[in-house]
Amino acid sequence: MRIDIVTIFPSFFDVLDLSLLGKARQSGLIEVVAHDLRDFTHDRHRTVDDTPYGGGAGMVMKPEPWGEALDAIVGDGDSDALLVVPSPAGEPFTQATARELAGEEHLVFACGRYEGIDQRVVDHYATRMRVRLISLGDYVLNGGEVAVMAMIEAAGRLVPGVVGNPESLVEESHEDGLLEYPSYTKPAVWRGLDVPPVLLSGHHGRVAEWRREQQVERTRRVRPELLGETPVDPAGRAPAED
Ligand code: ADE
Repeated sequence: MRIDIVTIFPSFFDVLDLSLLGKARQSGLIEVVAHDLRDFTHDRHRTVDDTPYGGGAGMVMKPEPWGEALDAIVGDGDSDALLVVPSPAGEPFTQATARELAGEEHLVFACGRYEGIDQRVVDHYATRMRVRLISLGDYVLNGGEVAVMAMIEAAGRLVPGVVGNPESLVEESHEDGLLEYPSYTKPAVWRGLDVPPVLLSGHHGRVAEWRREQQVERTRRVRPELLGETPVDPAGRAPAED
């Protein structure tokens, strides 16, 4: 997978050298390049923003540097890459979105700052490639960088080969529509708190049942909307799929 990021803070993405994604980059599974938007300006101040037409507070990112930067990455014709524009006005980012991004060969992230990027940039590239506006959540960040970091981490770990043991991806929060069950390791007693005895029983069936109950209970308590209309069997079996 190839990932290009356009930002006014390319060094923000230096941390992608660390951890699992760092390894994936070293092994060539994922190639990440962060581009400085200011390299595509032509004035002395390397200006990337200007006042909004129609008035109002804040600044808007100028279309010209974006056009030059994105053309340098995808060429000046149609492209098979997916352009992702992080925006609080976008579709919500979910585990399903992460899976979709993980299936792409080439992702281009456009990190806006200030009041966002001139709308014509999205409108123009939408005629040449697929474009998705994606929101990390219902709150406003100072720019797209933190959102892109989260998207790259969530999608990158789903790229085959990035996480050593793919089984560890299966029993995670959101993979089956529920929150994950609580986990414990040694010692069996810590500060007077016991590990739930069923986990020491060695009985795989009962462990699976207990974990499922915990998932359902946690989800009902913290995120009831995830359960929706789906009937969940509290005895621990996943509802039958039609
Ligand atoms: N940029 C600013 N806020 C954002 C959000 N919530 N999601 C994605 N990008 C953003």
